[in-house]
Amino acid sequence: MTNDNLWYKDAVFYQISVRAFKDSDGDGYGDLRGIKEKLDYLQTLGVDCLWLMPIYPSPLRDDGYDIADYSNIDPMYGTLDDFASLINAAHARGIRIIMDLVLNHTSDEHPWFKASRSDKNSPFREYYVWSDTDQKYKDTRIIFVDTEKSNWTWDEKTEQYYWHRFYASQPDLNFDNPKVQEEMINVARFWLDLGVDGFRADAVPYLFEREGTNCENLPETHIYLKKLRAFMEANYPGKILLCEANQWPEDVRPYFGDGDEFHMGFHFPIMPRIYMALKKERADDMIEILSRTPSIPENCQWCTFLRNHDELTLEMVTPEERQWMWEQYAPEPRMRINLGIRRRLAPLLDNDRRKIELANSLLFTLPGSPIVYYGDEIGMGDNIELPDRNGVRTPMQWDNSANAGFTSGRPFAPVIQNYPRINVAGQVDEKDSLFHTIRRMIETRKKYPAFGHGAMEWINVDNPALAVYTRSLQGITLLVINNLSASPQKVSLPAELHGGHVNLIAETRTKIDMSLDLQPYEYRWLKRI
Ligand code: GLC
Repeated sequence: MTNDNLWYKDAVFYQISVRAFKDSDGDGYGDLRGIKEKLDYLQTLGVDCLWLMPIYPSPLRDDGYDIADYSNIDPMYGTLDDFASLINAAHARGIRIIMDLVLNHTSDEHPWFKASRSDKNSPFREYYVWSDTDQKYKDTRIIFVDTEKSNWTWDEKTEQYYWHRFYASQPDLNFDNPKVQEEMINVARFWLDLGVDGFRADAVPYLFEREGTNCENLPETHIYLKKLRAFMEANYPGKILLCEANQWPEDVRPYFGDGDEFHMGFHFPIMPRIYMALKKERADDMIEILSRTPSIPENCQWCTFLRNHDELTLEMVTPEERQWMWEQYAPEPRMRINLGIRRRLAPLLDNDRRKIELANSLLFTLPGSPIVYYGDEIGMGDNIELPDRNGVRTPMQWDNSANAGFTSGRPFAPVIQNYPRINVAGQVDEKDSLFHTIRRMIETRKKYPAFGHGAMEWINVDNPALAVYTRSLQGITLLVINNLSASPQKVSLPAELHGGHVNLIAETRTKIDMSLDLQPYEYRWLKRI
């Protein structure tokens, strides 16, 4: 593992639903020991850092994002010792591990909330946000629009409303209470002491509430997050905070502060625009959003992704674009949820290998550190029969044995039935598989740090169907050409890019003179020789 405290700027991340990854003990639930068994695989894929979804004890009404105990692990996933042992084993292979830190809310089964709702005079009353009326903070949007009618829920016993930005079973913590602020720093300390390399901080825009605002991205929120960062900087240098703020780039920018708040932030809006680009066969939406993305401090990095465990969110597009995306990518109503699409990468792209590779080519070469969602590296499918977002959280497909080799017991959710054809073992054995292409992309990206933190420049080629750009660092310039269209395209490149090039993925040679012919959805990562 490198000692470099800026490791995240060049890292490739891999997101794991622990429950769905690998079951080591036959109870049907994936667990920490299961991940440990699969570290060889993750090392072969070449990823640098795992992001584990919540493993805290939880009633699982929001898949673990509803936490009932912040300093424990749900027995279904293993023990604290198992976690420490997984971290050590991962570190020994040069792989880091970050985990979810859910600051904004707890489960309604957390002892703090149970105490808080038991009695108005409980010392824990002030841990949550209570009110006599549900008319406060009227300018705040509802996030889970399909299920929640209000951000306030009435509590019969104490006859007040409590505030929640997500499910009613996830009461928001009251960050105006200094005790709450301190508790959450202690939670961070607990896991950092166990050895984790940082946190994906969940739902951070919503920590504070203020009348007359939309209760998002408030100055108070930044003050608190800076405190958390200062605490980490002072005691755990090299450990990172990754910001989940589903916001426009200009609104995410303050979360980087002066390099003293988050190390990383998800770039939400680029994601749907990659899908738009493939459907419209045009690069302009990507170009536009990147041009309105402010620069960030030297020690910060964007985090990019194609899919994750949630719906493909369409919050960061216009209402017209959202409608269009739904029509194009989610023709059946049950494919939609809230403001998004509950489908995985491969089925979204018609299981078309060329489109899947092209989307990954963009992911791995545009600015930011990429995250691969477990299973997308083998083109796993989804199951839209399952409720909520569970259809994209199905068991990992390891091989063609029963239950895809995920468990020897009864899997917690049905395995997608294409597993005899789509599984890790088959793709590792097949040298031309999607797995090996993604593995090569990761390897190439790591060989050339220009992809991680080099400058990016669009090349104007007078053909809207092409996304052509360079990434350069310390005298090395890499030229990336993506054909977004279903038809062959010709690209004319400026004279300074002419000459002999090697294709870093296909390992073939290309001579660029006046123009270059590209196949449908072809991409090339080129380096001059
Ligand atoms: C984040 C998580 C999502 C969860 C929500 C509430 O957006 O990604 O899965 O439901 O926060 O915790």
